[in-house]
Amino acid sequence: MTVKGIIMSWVRKDLLGLEYLSKEEIELILSTADSFKEVSTREIKKVPALRGKTVVNLFYEPSTRTRVSFEVAAKRLSADVINIASETSSVKKGETLIDTGKNIQALKADIIVMRHNYSGAAVVLARNIDLSVINAGDGWHEHPTQALLDIFTLKEKLGRIPGLHVTIVGDIAHSRVARSNIWGLTKLGAKVTVCAPAMLIPPGIEELGVKVSHDLGEALKQADAVNVLRMQFERDEEEAFPKQLEYFQNFGITAERLKKAKKGIIVMHPGPINRGIEMSSEVADGANSVILEQVTNGIAVRMAVLFLVAQAREENAA
Ligand code: CP
Repeated sequence: MTVKGIIMSWVRKDLLGLEYLSKEEIELILSTADSFKEVSTREIKKVPALRGKTVVNLFYEPSTRTRVSFEVAAKRLSADVINIASETSSVKKGETLIDTGKNIQALKADIIVMRHNYSGAAVVLARNIDLSVINAGDGWHEHPTQALLDIFTLKEKLGRIPGLHVTIVGDIAHSRVARSNIWGLTKLGAKVTVCAPAMLIPPGIEELGVKVSHDLGEALKQADAVNVLRMQFERDEEEAFPKQLEYFQNFGITAERLKKAKKGIIVMHPGPINRGIEMSSEVADGANSVILEQVTNGIAVRMAVLFLVAQAREENAA
């Protein structure tokens, strides 16, 4: 079946992580997002693809970009959208994740987009309900739509993914964004280096097919793009983080460092940025930065994911 030139071969009920997807499935999401990007440039930014469907954004952790982006994406597809934040829901009264999911199912929603502080929460929910579950970030595990929008932006800016050198700098140990990017980029044929102080590199990360560096200057020399991660100070239970100034001096992206990097290197960040810690404001707002373009591309990527999952639901029900 084709919809506006989109070849349908998506059969999954859920999107839980890029680890579980094939190269072809990732490419299908990216090409579908390409088709949807144009919708946001129209005067009336809406298509009827998800008319009559209900998308529930269930967020157990704070979010600006992901939650709003999913809401915008669902509304551009004409879905009804309901936002549930754990702080103002019956989660505060002790309701379990599975009970919450089953109640949303009883309310006849179609898709749950969930962010959760526990790794694996999206997998648990998806196994226990018939609704589609889209992982909007689970603990330190995966943030698949963030990586998809990062890869979409890389492809848009640099024209390809195979053979690209991408350096991911920062708190790799606590980062679901790093893990999803590593799965996605390596499946599509990019070369990935992770760069951070030793305390922020998880043991065995090389087994995922990446190089490890503790020298930012060296790691930037070959990089076509640098994806800079947020320092997750809120997760620092054992004071495992370097001091902020020390971190910026050794691993912060500055204009000086970019001058010594490959010409045309693009600078990415999933947000929110800690300015003056992960990168200078000069870099965040400078000519190499594509940070706000990542945010814009997030809408098309999330439209694609919602569309593919909803289509698969209909095909499975038929
Ligand atoms: N990139 C990202 O996940 O940002 P939010 O936490 O604001 O959703």
